[in-house]
Amino acid sequence: MKREILKHLVDPDTQGPLTLKTSDAGDDVRDGALSVGAKSYAIREGIPSFVSEDVREDQTVQSFGDKWDKHRYYKDHTRRFYTEWYLARFGFKTIEGLKAFLADKKLILDAGTGAGRDAANFAENAGATVFGVDTAWHALSNAGAQPNRPAVNLVHADVNRLPFPDEFFDFINCDQVIHHTPDPPLTFKNLGKKLKKGGELTTYVYRKKSVIREFTDDYIRDRIKDQSFEKALETCEAITKMGKAFSDLKATVTLEEDIPILGITKGTYDVQRFLHWHVMKCFWNDEFDFFTNNVVNADWYHPVYCFRYTPEEFRAWFAEGWEVVAWDEQEAGISCRARKV
Ligand SMILES: C[S@@+](CC[C@H](N)C(=O)[O-])C[C@H]1O[C@@H](n2cnc3c(N)ncnc32)[C@H](O)[C@@H]1O
Repeated sequence: MKREILKHLVDPDTQGPLTLKTSDAGDDVRDGALSVGAKSYAIREGIPSFVSEDVREDQTVQSFGDKWDKHRYYKDHTRRFYTEWYLARFGFKTIEGLKAFLADKKLILDAGTGAGRDAANFAENAGATVFGVDTAWHALSNAGAQPNRPAVNLVHADVNRLPFPDEFFDFINCDQVIHHTPDPPLTFKNLGKKLKKGGELTTYVYRKKSVIREFTDDYIRDRIKDQSFEKALETCEAITKMGKAFSDLKATVTLEEDIPILGITKGTYDVQRFLHWHVMKCFWNDEFDFFTNNVVNADWYHPVYCFRYTPEEFRAWFAEGWEVVAWDEQEAGISCRARKV
């Protein structure tokens, strides 16, 4: 933790200032504590930690913690894939478009940063102070250990209990995170409070799928949720192999008519894609290795909190106090960039 960021951090409960205690002499504090009254928040590996015991024990928080522990490596090909997806969904189009948008953003939060991929892209903007926050310690510790990445200030914290003042950030990104919290509309409101008026938020939630797929999602999640993440990876291997087998067919199927009772629309589908979207998630992408594909499936089925929304339900979140700047609906999820008004 850079000593200079202390001025930005507050006690998440009272918003009061924190006092740094450390025996580290330099600008980079590796070990120490931030205290307020009788409370003390530890700093380890240079990362201040604000996550309470009850949140640490939450099944979804543990699931992601274990996922990042198992998925320590960070590959450039997945970074490219996700960055392109990010730029398209939020209306930035190109990395230059994102850079132009970031030019006047001084304080940036990547809420639920995971491996810190988006945060690293934001930190290319040298004039900004970028914070990457997550409840998964291993995610942050991995992100912090990546060589040659632009400086991101990593903070171990819950998006619902952030150690920052209200109306603080110029830009908040919370990509694929809100639906993993216990009460997503409340999380959305809490995040909105941390944004300045005129600031922008980019966020994405999972979309409700067709009938059979929703049923299978809930059915598998209910059976897998009490397994360890490692065991869930094992359970998902057969599902991932099935995804690959159908993908290898390189075959298509044409439905001549809609099937409204199942929420399926007519059209020509790749067979694996059809199965994936309308019957059960069985992700496969030839560009990723087997382990990465399998993590994508396990990471879908394992966390208990995995809420899905219709476009109308998600849109309603932005009805008051927001101006929608970019909107994108895909089968997997819905993305929105909005300005706080
Ligand atoms: C699907 S990952 C997305 C990571 C990253 N935003 C990305 O797009 O690559 C969800 C992340 O949200 C984090 N997360 C879940 N609940 C959280 C919470 N209450 N506070 C902070 N992070 C949370 C998880 O630990 C995980 O790293």
